[in-house]
Amino acid sequence: MQGIAPASFVEGPADRTLECVEIRIETRTVKTIVLRDLDASGAMPFIPGQSMMLTLDIAGERLQRTFSIASSPLGSGMLELTIKAPDDGRATRWLHDTLRPGMTLDARYPLGQFRLEFDAQRVKPLALVSAGSGASPLMSMLRTLALRCPHADVAWFHAARGTEDILFARELAILQSSMPNLQVSVALSAPAAGWFGLRGRVSRRLISAVVPDFNLREVYCCGPASFMDEVRRIHAADGARHAGFHVEHFAPVDPFPSEAPDAMDNSVTHHIKLGDKTFRTHANETILMAASRQNVVIPCGCASGMCGTCKLRRVSGVIEMRHQGGLSGAEEAQGFVLACSSRAMSDVTLEF
Ligand SMILES: Cc1cc2nc3c(=O)[nH]c(=O)nc-3n(C[C@H](O)[C@H](O)[C@H](O)COP(=O)(O)OP(=O)(O)OC[C@H]3O[C@@H](n4cnc5c(N)ncnc54)[C@H](O)[C@@H]3O)c2cc1C
Ligand code: FES
Repeated sequence: MQGIAPASFVEGPADRTLECVEIRIETRTVKTIVLRDLDASGAMPFIPGQSMMLTLDIAGERLQRTFSIASSPLGSGMLELTIKAPDDGRATRWLHDTLRPGMTLDARYPLGQFRLEFDAQRVKPLALVSAGSGASPLMSMLRTLALRCPHADVAWFHAARGTEDILFARELAILQSSMPNLQVSVALSAPAAGWFGLRGRVSRRLISAVVPDFNLREVYCCGPASFMDEVRRIHAADGARHAGFHVEHFAPVDPFPSEAPDAMDNSVTHHIKLGDKTFRTHANETILMAASRQNVVIPCGCASGMCGTCKLRRVSGVIEMRHQGGLSGAEEAQGFVLACSSRAMSDVTLEF
């Protein structure tokens, strides 16, 4: 069994080749891909909640997508990704429909600041709150707690559409028998007749009915942005500490949300020179947003400042950057910036 590495020992990320060893059907839209790291040292250490970026060449197009690692770093040494594929999902449809055991994938991991670091002797009461495939990183946390401190006080709250969409239902039932302080709640927004459990969208009433001490718990939350905003409001309304609420976004996050009305002022523009291309940015958009608006391609893996794929070197000009660990301190000192997490404060020259 591998050890869970303290944050200070989790180096990375690194580029690895992974072999698909199994594909499991979870629900009608979700599959779990089981991967083996082919490096002689096995899977890289990671912290529950972290993610990996896959680079896929599909029909002549290179796509980079980030997925949470759903398995535990204390488990079998295999890496599991639990992936929902929308009908029009380019990368996820390929992973569902074409990937087969025996095929290999290029991956970069571990990534991200969403992570459960805990002292096995004194785990705080936790709430792991998810909607849809947002359960993936939380399952890594729960599987790790089950192995390291099965007496942890954990409230698992999952929102899904119908019974057939509930993720990890069987495993949660099994975990409940080995984790005496694990309480599992599922709320369905569109239950079929015969469902006697919680129904409706996430609300203060729903959460307080099943987790009355919600405000006293450290919360890890993952799902659509509107779901996470609502859960955060409920936690804060009950007087919880802001620091006790952690979220993971599956969709790109704007690192510079509009703080003031004039932040959206599109009249302020700067010119960006990248190689032989020139484009313009507005005051409150990232360099990646501006580039894609003007059909300038910058490779992108997460659009959230985690994976480092959009790394560029600043040659001149002033840039403000807010990333989530996608660059090392040494890279920043060498003048590298992440296009998805940076905005121009003057005209800027960049290079790949
Ligand atoms: C840190 C991180 C962790 C992630 N972990 C997981 C995970 O564990 N499981 C998982 O299934 N996905 C996860 N994602 C999302 C994943 O990276 C892809 O964005 C998503 O699966 C769609 O990829 P695609 O190429 O199939 O879709 P695309 O071809 O890029 O898009 C297809 C359609 O889906 C919409 N879409 C794209 N992404 C999302 C999204 N996140 N939510 C809703 N609609 C979307 C697009 O607007 C478009 O209409 C994670 C993303 C991040 C940043
Ligand atoms: S795209 Fe991942 S850090 Fe920018």
